[in-house]
Amino acid sequence: MAGSIVILTGAGVSAESGVDTFRDKHGIWSNSDYREVATPEGFSAKSDLVHTFYNQRREGLAKVVPNAAHVALARLEREHSGEVTLVTQNIDDLHERAGSKNLIHMHGELAKALCSRCGTRHDWRETLSTQVPCPACGKTGGMRPDVVWFGEMPYHMERIYEALRECDLFIAIGTSGNVYPAAQFVQEAGRAGAHTVELNLEPSETVSDFDEVIYGPASRVVPEYVERVLRAK
Ligand code: APR
Repeated sequence: MAGSIVILTGAGVSAESGVDTFRDKHGIWSNSDYREVATPEGFSAKSDLVHTFYNQRREGLAKVVPNAAHVALARLEREHSGEVTLVTQNIDDLHERAGSKNLIHMHGELAKALCSRCGTRHDWRETLSTQVPCPACGKTGGMRPDVVWFGEMPYHMERIYEALRECDLFIAIGTSGNVYPAAQFVQEAGRAGAHTVELNLEPSETVSDFDEVIYGPASRVVPEYVERVLRAK
């Protein structure tokens, strides 16, 4: 039975809920240029375009629900005797809506806004624009999605590395292994002696770093794997 578990999820865990992935055919990056909509430079050049990109995705949250993979991961956290830390690269709110509590959004959250003037964060479900005044400092011109863009430092890295150093089981789910630092978490966990597993639709870029790989749609392979972990004595 694994002691402490660290799970890393990517867009693939939300795909069957109807949330687009990034690098699949017709993925988000095949329709939008990440340099325009997911970098600080892009935001300072065309903030309205960036706000429109995230406003559309934020509105989409109301139209999607957690799938069996999100539900299974929340069950694992509830029923497993050891610590379960869920690190997600996703900015949707499906893990929390499925009941996950010990959850780290390393790339930020669509349902949060950040004031770049005063640094405060705010729950945010409405349309956002730079004309919106910050609820804390009252200034306009600085409100942005609380999302980590390319070239920015992911959130909670110290807490994530601490969990990786302690873990006995590392499970990566629905991530292509293209983006760092998340793509090298498997090596960190391996160095700590953890058993490392990839649950995905197809081999990721980092498949060779894993001890075990299981392919199939997350809504099937994640509940099956969670059952296996909970049954293991
Ligand atoms: N079940 C399991 N895996 C799936 C499914 C599914 N139903 N559908 C797709 N996948 C897999 C794909 O095979 C792919 O390996 O999910 C992965 C999605 O990869 P990406 O689209 O690259 O998404 P992700 O790995 O989360 O991207 C990481 O890149 O653009 C940035 O900030 C963005 O957080 C994102 C980061």
